[in-house]
Amino acid sequence: MTFNFDELIERRDTNSVKWDFPPPVAGATGSVLPLWVADMDFRAPPAVLDALKARVEHGIFGYARHTPSYIESIRAWLDRRHGWRVESEWIVPIPGVVPGIRLALDVFTAPGDRVVIQPPVYHPFRIVPFESGRVVVENPLLRTGGRYEIDFEGLERAIGEETRLVVFCSPHNPVGRVWRRDELERLVELCARRGALLLSDEIHCDLVMSGHVHRPAGLVAAGLSGPSGGDGIVTFVSPTKTFNLASLSAGAAVIPDPEKRRRFKRRLTQERAESANVLGLAASEAAYRHGAPWLDALLAYLEGNYRLLVERLAREAPDLAVAPLEGTYLAWVDFSSLKVADRELKEALFRAGVWLEDGPKYGTGGEGFQRVNIACPRARLDEALTRILAAVASLRR
Ligand SMILES: Cc1ncc(COP(=O)(O)O)c(C=O)c1O
Repeated sequence: MTFNFDELIERRDTNSVKWDFPPPVAGATGSVLPLWVADMDFRAPPAVLDALKARVEHGIFGYARHTPSYIESIRAWLDRRHGWRVESEWIVPIPGVVPGIRLALDVFTAPGDRVVIQPPVYHPFRIVPFESGRVVVENPLLRTGGRYEIDFEGLERAIGEETRLVVFCSPHNPVGRVWRRDELERLVELCARRGALLLSDEIHCDLVMSGHVHRPAGLVAAGLSGPSGGDGIVTFVSPTKTFNLASLSAGAAVIPDPEKRRRFKRRLTQERAESANVLGLAASEAAYRHGAPWLDALLAYLEGNYRLLVERLAREAPDLAVAPLEGTYLAWVDFSSLKVADRELKEALFRAGVWLEDGPKYGTGGEGFQRVNIACPRARLDEALTRILAAVASLRR
C-alpha cells in the first residue's frame, strides 16, 4: 500500500496549536508557516481513521476503561518493533507522557529532592520538577564536533546523596540522538549503582532513522548482570508521536517493579487519571495493531525531508550546522554563526514567514539554536527552508 505524504492538508481552523495560535511577534506576516511544536502535518494511518470512524458511528461516548486487548496491542508492539518482552501487567495506561512524568515525580520523590536532567532537553523535564518543588540538577550534554554525548563524569557527580531520580529522553528531543547500547548500559548501571530511579521517556522510540536502533532502557537493563535488572526504571511510551494522535490523550508507563507499580497506580486513581478516552483507545489500538506499514513509509519520507534540509543548508548557508538526526522528526540547527540575539533571530524568521521552536526553551546549550519540525509535506518544507534562508540573508546584511 502506498501513502501520500505529499498531500497539503489545510490545518487552519482545526483548533491546531501549531497552526491556529501564532504569538504576536513584531513584523510577523499573516501566513507564517509553523514548523515548531512536535506534531505532524500528515493524516493518521488509514487503519486508525477507520477505527475512529467506526467508534464515532457507534455514537455513545460514556465512561471507558482500558481493555486487555488494548494492553496486548502495546505489549505486542514493544516486542515486535523493539524486541522488548514485557509482562502485560507492567503496562499502566496514562493520559499522556508529561502527566505520567509528573505523577512519577510526585510518587517517587519529595519536595527538595534532586532530579537530574540533561539539557538541552524537552522543556517540561525542567519545568515539571521545578514547579513541584524539586531541585533540578543539570548535567548538560557534551557537544563535540556537532555531535552530542552524555557527560558521564558529570552524571557521576550530579547523582549525589539527595538525588532520587534521573529524567532521560530516548531518543533525545531536541538533539536527535538515538543512544547506543554502550551509552545506555553505562547510564542504567550508574543509576542502579547510585540508587537513582531512571524515568526513561521513550515517546520518540518509533521515529528512528535508518542505520540506528532504539533500545529501550528496560531491555538494556534486563541484559546486564548485577542489580540493574530494570526494577529501577520507569519507561514511558505512547503512540501519539509515532502516529500523530497527540490530542487523543494516550500513553503508557511500563513499570516492572510491583511495589513501584502499585504506588503509581494508586496515585493515578487518586488523581482520577485512570479513565480512558474512547477515541484515543480506538486510535491507539488500531495504530499498534495495523500501523507498521504506514510508519515504515513515514520514516522513509522523513529521511527524504531531512536530506532536503541538510542539502539546502549545506549549499545555501553552510555555516548553519545541523545536528545529525538519528531519531525524532525534529532537526536541531545551530544559527550561532550569525552572532545575533535569539530574539532578533526569532523575529527575523517570523518576518520571513516561518515559525520554528526557540532553542533557549530547551535550557542550557539551547542558545543560538532553533528546532525545525520536518514532519510536513516536502513542498512545504522546501518553502519553509526558502523563508529560513531569506531570514538568514536579512540578518547578514
Ligand atoms: C520527549 C517528549 N516527551 C513527552 C512529550 C509529550 O507527551 P504527551 O503529549 O503524551 O504529554 C513530548 C512532545 O513533544 C516529547 O517530545
